[in-house]
Amino acid sequence: MSEELKRNSRSIPVKIKDDPYEVVVWRNGLQHIGEELTRVGIKTGTKILVVTNNDVAVPYAKLFLDSLKKSGFEPKLLVLEAGEDQKNPESIALIHDAAYSAKLERGSLMIALGGGVVGDMAGFAAATWLRGISIVQVPTTLLAMVDASIGGKTGVNHKCGKNLIGAFHQPKLVLIDPATLNTLPEREFRAGMAEIIKYGVIGDSKLFTLLEKSKDLKNLEALDNETLEELIHLSCSAKAKIVSLDTKEGGLRAILNYGHTFGHVIETLCGYGNWLHGEAVSMGMIAIGKLAIQLESWSKKDYERQKALLKKAGLPIVWPSLNQEEIFRVLQGDKKVKAGKIRFIIPRKIGEVEIRDDISIDKISQFILSLAKES
Ligand code: NAD
Ligand code: GLY
Repeated sequence: MSEELKRNSRSIPVKIKDDPYEVVVWRNGLQHIGEELTRVGIKTGTKILVVTNNDVAVPYAKLFLDSLKKSGFEPKLLVLEAGEDQKNPESIALIHDAAYSAKLERGSLMIALGGGVVGDMAGFAAATWLRGISIVQVPTTLLAMVDASIGGKTGVNHKCGKNLIGAFHQPKLVLIDPATLNTLPEREFRAGMAEIIKYGVIGDSKLFTLLEKSKDLKNLEALDNETLEELIHLSCSAKAKIVSLDTKEGGLRAILNYGHTFGHVIETLCGYGNWLHGEAVSMGMIAIGKLAIQLESWSKKDYERQKALLKKAGLPIVWPSLNQEEIFRVLQGDKKVKAGKIRFIIPRKIGEVEIRDDISIDKISQFILSLAKES
């Protein structure tokens, strides 16, 4: 590792058996992507397809490609349209067409340069091209940095539901350049902050306290570089630890869905375009927090601490007006339902949650009624 890299970056190991890799947090690391690939063993001359979208290509594609060429790689660029509605099988066909044109072989590489949508699509295209070629994730949204780029979940939406088509395909490297957040819209920044707060509640009270100490969390300007990088580092470490222990979501990994069960209800019933994922998760964390109080699983004090952080991050905390029967219908159709039992991630204290599927249907109905009354 060069002296410059040692000074400016921090590396988090993701210890997945047979597929270990590093998450490197490196401010301005985007312009060193070529050196990084060489460092992790990608051979000079390797053909590379960089998949990105318009929003990211304009500010970053040139310096990214320049760095790859400087290190002796042969990159081709595919620029897709931006947006969740592009996350479909047609876009995968476009990526595969580009892979064919670029003559990608078994030893070639795809790089996802973008947010979670680009990362999930390029990851899935790489998992399926020639039965699987390597992928490197270079996330450019806060959400993709701390969540989507780590852990190998890839895929696209089916017309009947989100992320129904997919595969596990771990990246060879995740390179996070926090400087790319300078161009990210504020609302997207806040949505990513919801996932950071989630890590604090599910497993890292130190991260939670760091968030509490920050005066403001609403936008990039509110945080100094050092604090932002520490938040990203702690979040990535939390995710890396969980996916290393349970790579294919046999058990523990489900705790990453904290706030997502009720968040999914909001996304489904309000339409995916209305709320960003992180915003829905914020309201979902409030809802599950209230259920946990009713179950006497955690204290009102911890609930208030969580609520204060979500508020400080400018995230929505009021449950929207939704029909209770519809809420129940979505909850029962959720991927988190196992053998007819609804599975919830229930907080116990800041830094600790448990997976429960023993909450009676009566209790859940009463709770939904109380939620509906509040809104
Ligand atoms: P996104 O990829 O749609 O990005 C949000 C917006 O920001 C887009 O318009 C994008 O073009 C733009 N953008 C990205 N980086 C930018 C930058 N640096 N400057 C300016 N604009 C930029 O959304 P997201 O929140 O990053 O990801 C959401 C997706 O991630 C969803 O599809 C979700 O299912 C998926 N996801 C996957 C996992 C996983 O484990 N694989 C985890 C969480 C979420
Ligand atoms: N975002 C949930 C997971 O990676 O499992």
